[in-house]
Amino acid sequence: MQLPDEAIEYSYQRLLAPLPEAWTPLAELQSQHFLAADRLDQMRTMMNAVRGRVAADREMQNPPPKDTPLQAGFIDLPQKMLDAYRRKGDASELGHTLRIAARVKENCDRVIVLGIGGSYLGAKALFDALCHTYHNEMPAKLRTGKPRIYFEGNNVDSDAVQELLELLENSCIEPEEVAERWGVVVVSKSGGTMETAAAYRAFRAEMAKFYGPKSDWLKKLIVPVTGPTGKLRDLAHAEGIADDDILTIPDDIGGRYSVFTSVGLLPAAIMGLDVRAILLGAAAMTKRFLEEPFERNPVLQYAAVNHLLGTEFGKTTRVMAVWSRKLESIGFWYDQLLSESLGKMNKGATPITVVQTRDLHSRGQQHQDGVRDKVINNLIVRSQKHPAVMVGMSDRNEDELNQFSRRGMPDIQDAAFHGTNQAYLEAARPTADIVLPTLSEHTVGQLLQMLMLATAVEGRLAGINPYGQPGVEAYKQNMMKILKSTPNLPKGEVADAAKGK
Ligand code: PA5
Repeated sequence: MQLPDEAIEYSYQRLLAPLPEAWTPLAELQSQHFLAADRLDQMRTMMNAVRGRVAADREMQNPPPKDTPLQAGFIDLPQKMLDAYRRKGDASELGHTLRIAARVKENCDRVIVLGIGGSYLGAKALFDALCHTYHNEMPAKLRTGKPRIYFEGNNVDSDAVQELLELLENSCIEPEEVAERWGVVVVSKSGGTMETAAAYRAFRAEMAKFYGPKSDWLKKLIVPVTGPTGKLRDLAHAEGIADDDILTIPDDIGGRYSVFTSVGLLPAAIMGLDVRAILLGAAAMTKRFLEEPFERNPVLQYAAVNHLLGTEFGKTTRVMAVWSRKLESIGFWYDQLLSESLGKMNKGATPITVVQTRDLHSRGQQHQDGVRDKVINNLIVRSQKHPAVMVGMSDRNEDELNQFSRRGMPDIQDAAFHGTNQAYLEAARPTADIVLPTLSEHTVGQLLQMLMLATAVEGRLAGINPYGQPGVEAYKQNMMKILKSTPNLPKGEVADAAKGK
C-alpha cells in the first residue's frame, strides 16, 4: 500500500535483547529486561489472528454477553465520515458538524467545551497539539476568527468554575458585540454524567443572564453533542433546541474512542483545524492496520511489544514520554484510553505521561534507577514548525554557552533525546519511539487512531474487553446515594453523614 507522505512510525529496535554471543554484564541484564527478537517473531502469527478478530468485531451484530459492550465502530468511522461527506456534502454528519462549527465560530469569540473523560480529552489533545500554545491569549486579529477555547465540566471544582464565570462576566459585557459573545458545546454521550450536567446548568444560567432568557443566541450558541437518546437530548429539546442542532454520537462508538465523531471534530472545526486532514490521517492508519504486514504496521508492533513487556517482563507501568509540551494532552488522552479500556480483571498496565525534558528533572531519576516495572514509549516530532530559538553569542559568557552559539533548542533537545535513550539502554531500561515526521492534523489523526487500534488489539490479546468501563459505575452510584441521603448539608457535614455520624 502507498503510505502517506507523513506516515508515522514505531521504532522499537532499542528494546530488543542483544544476541547471545555478545556476552557482557550489560548484555546479560538487557536480556533479562529486553525482548528477544525471536519471541517477537513467534508473536506474528498471533498478531495476525488478533488483527482478524478486531477486524471481525466491526461486523458482529449480536455479540455474546462476554463480548458486550462491543463498540468497534471507531475503526471504520474516519473513512465512512469522509465518504459520506464526499457523497452527501452538507447533509452528511461531517457536513452537519462543519456547518454548526461555522455558525459558532462566526458568532462568538469564546467557546466553553463541557465534557469529561472521553467527552473532552480528545478535543483538548487536538487543541493543545495543533493550536498556538498561547491561542487564548492571542489578540483576535492573530487568531483569525478562531474563538478562544476553554474546557470545563470535567470536574466538580467549584472555584475553578466560579473563576471562569467571573472571567466571562468581566470580559463579556455587550452581547451585541461578536467579540464579547460566548457559546457552549456540551458533550455527554450518556447525557447523564453529573460533572458535565452540573456545569451545563451553571453555564446555561450564566448565558441566560447575559443574552436574556429568551434570546435566540441561546439556541445558536449552545451545541449539545450526545447519544441518540438521553437526558441531555431531552433537556435540549425542552430548551427549544431543534434535533438538527444537536450532534449525535453513534451507539457503536465508546466515549474514549469518540475523538473522530463530533465529540472531537466539532471543537476541532471551531478551533479552525483541518478536520478532513485529521480524518484522512486516521483513515490511513486504519488501512495500514488492516492491510500491512507486521514490519510496516505500527499498530501491531506497538501492541505486541508493550503487551509482551507487560505480561512477560513485568513492565506494568507504561510511560508515554512526550518530547513537546504540546503533546502532553495527547498523553493524558492515552492515559484514559489505556486505563479505562484495559484496567479490568485485575490486569492492565498503568499509564503515566511525562513531558521531556521537563520531567527528566522530576521523574527521570526514578526511570533511570527505580523499580524495573516500566517501558518508556517516546513520542517525538522530527521537525519544528517555527524557526529554531538559537543559543547565540553573548557579551557575558559566565554561563559558558558561547561554545554552543550556533546551536538551537532543537539541537539541545536532540542531544537530550539521544542522551536519555542511551542512558536507559545502558541501564537495561526498555524504550521505543513513536515518530511523527511533523506535528499536523494528518499526523495527529494517524497517531490517535494508531493508539485506539493498538488498545483494542491489546485488549483482545489479553482476553480483556477493551470497550465499556464497568468499574467507573461504583463511585457514581455512591456519589448519588450520598447526595440523595444527605440533602443540602455543607461539605464537612456531608463527609460525616456519609460515615454515618
Ligand atoms: O470512555 C468513556 O466511555 C468514558 O470516559 C466517558 O467518556 C465519560 O465517562 C463521559 O461519559 P459521557 O459522555 O456519557 O458523559
